[in-house]
Amino acid sequence: MAEFTVGDADFLLDGRPVRLLSGALHYFRVHEEQWDHRLAMLRAMGLNCVETYVPWNMHEPEPGRYADDAALGRFLDAAHRAGLWAIVRPGPYICAEWENGGLPHWLTGRLGLRVRTEDPEYLGHVERWFTRLLPQVAERQIGRGGPVIMVQVENEYGSYGTDQGYLRQLVDLLRSCGVTVPLFTSDGPEDHMLTGGSVPGVLATANFGSGAREGFETLRRHQPAGPLMCMEFWCGWFDHWGADHVVRDPADAAATLREILECGASVNIYMAHGGTNFAGWSGANRGGGDLHMGELQPDVTSYDYGAPVDEFGRPTRKFWLFRDVLALYQEGPLPELPPAPALFGAPVQVELTEWAPLGDVLDVLGGTEAETPVPASFEQLDVDRGLVRYRVGIPGPRKPRPLSVAGLRDRAVVYVDGVRAGVLSGEHAVLAEPVAGPAAVELWVESLGRVNYGPLMGETKGITGGVMHERQYLHGVRSRGLRLDAFDEAGAVAKVPFRAPAGDGAAAPGLYRATFEVAVPGDAELELPGWTRGFVWVNGFNLGRYWSAGPQHTLYVPGPVLREGTNEVWVLELEAAGTSVCLG
Ligand code: GLA
Repeated sequence: MAEFTVGDADFLLDGRPVRLLSGALHYFRVHEEQWDHRLAMLRAMGLNCVETYVPWNMHEPEPGRYADDAALGRFLDAAHRAGLWAIVRPGPYICAEWENGGLPHWLTGRLGLRVRTEDPEYLGHVERWFTRLLPQVAERQIGRGGPVIMVQVENEYGSYGTDQGYLRQLVDLLRSCGVTVPLFTSDGPEDHMLTGGSVPGVLATANFGSGAREGFETLRRHQPAGPLMCMEFWCGWFDHWGADHVVRDPADAAATLREILECGASVNIYMAHGGTNFAGWSGANRGGGDLHMGELQPDVTSYDYGAPVDEFGRPTRKFWLFRDVLALYQEGPLPELPPAPALFGAPVQVELTEWAPLGDVLDVLGGTEAETPVPASFEQLDVDRGLVRYRVGIPGPRKPRPLSVAGLRDRAVVYVDGVRAGVLSGEHAVLAEPVAGPAAVELWVESLGRVNYGPLMGETKGITGGVMHERQYLHGVRSRGLRLDAFDEAGAVAKVPFRAPAGDGAAAPGLYRATFEVAVPGDAELELPGWTRGFVWVNGFNLGRYWSAGPQHTLYVPGPVLREGTNEVWVLELEAAGTSVCLG
């Protein structure tokens, strides 16, 4: 069996120097039936390795209950079949523009800032999870005939904290779970990050998008020997809702790739194929410059990332330019590209002919209502992704005064006595018109994704302060959660009492449903003209959030989700609906 080690200057395979030409592909962002195709695209680009994170929160929705936690092993087997080595970054924190940086909501909700430290309760949960997860990594290590050659400790810890004891304990835990391949850390090439995130005796690597020579010089100052590796070469970037689409010039990215390789370094292209944040798993940033304490910047559904293999699995210009660079570092000719996936046949316009108001949807799919003096948070209601309806009364008689929400995360559609009164956000949380009492106030609050990076990572969602009438807290709040995964239960949506959409143009929020016929299934995109904000499912598969705020205007529909014959679409609209959607 082969042995992969860290030498003084190079990575060594059975003692011979090897260069890692790796690309990031997160198995949880790609439909499983497409893994083989995407991995073959990575091979064809000239990569010899694939890297993936592991999202703890997706695999452990509540403590001790696991969801498809064998997926990583199946993906590693697919990588092996494709002739790729594998780097695994199991977290527990992964950042990755993923909800809560991969930490479960039930963990951050309870522990707050005690996560990512040596706190015993936190480490107890990590130990349970790693003990469950890591056997499938350990048994697929290169020394046992598998593809796994390296495993990461935490993720860019130096961008977050200084708890060296925590990192040490993670190293010990990985080892005690049977991980024998080399470990590494990855951090920005900055003194404070490398000193905060590195562990003596563990290979340090650097993450950057440009300036390879300077980056590696900084890394060298901290680590005089050992192979150089850029663990995240950001060849593109992600988008935020309501902001401009970010573009990275392919030639400029290819020049940086060349520079990295000319430094004699190994590389992990982040992302080689980005995929999609299906099912509302996208995370969020906080603006405000380097302190990252400013306004919420939720991530869009697409994780195309401007990657060389685009969201549809197609080669882009960046792909061909990268392939030219990577070809210089191969012994033989590069493999051919795999056959392109099937494309959807003729476009279909689907009228949404059935509708149920949000309150009825909540009655069928919602959790139990909590009645508490102050609003319950999403975490207290055990809502990871989804909505909470808050109801509270304004006593009266009293004259009109400003109605606002303190500590709103993230966006609320507000009704006063059943009439829509406005949409509030964390940044603009006062209704335009003052409200008189007595009145009944209802707020539908959506989490736009928990922060995955920076000091506010893990902050709670919902109304985290209170509903205010002028300076007065309105007490006695009824809170009821609607988890997105309630829609996943077989037959659950069929129990919703659908009817014809209200009024003429079907603008009312609610759950819409329709069936449509498909002649030739294949990769497609869904457009939602006139719709505002919500989620779409096709045949029960959650395609993710749509939002007219842009810059994303269509959702990717993986071909394997569609079937020949009759298909079903559901649209959960939270603000103002359109009448039809287009698949093409
Ligand atoms: C950091 C993180 C990644 C990702 C990138 C930005 O490097 O380690 O998980 O968030 O930033 O895409």
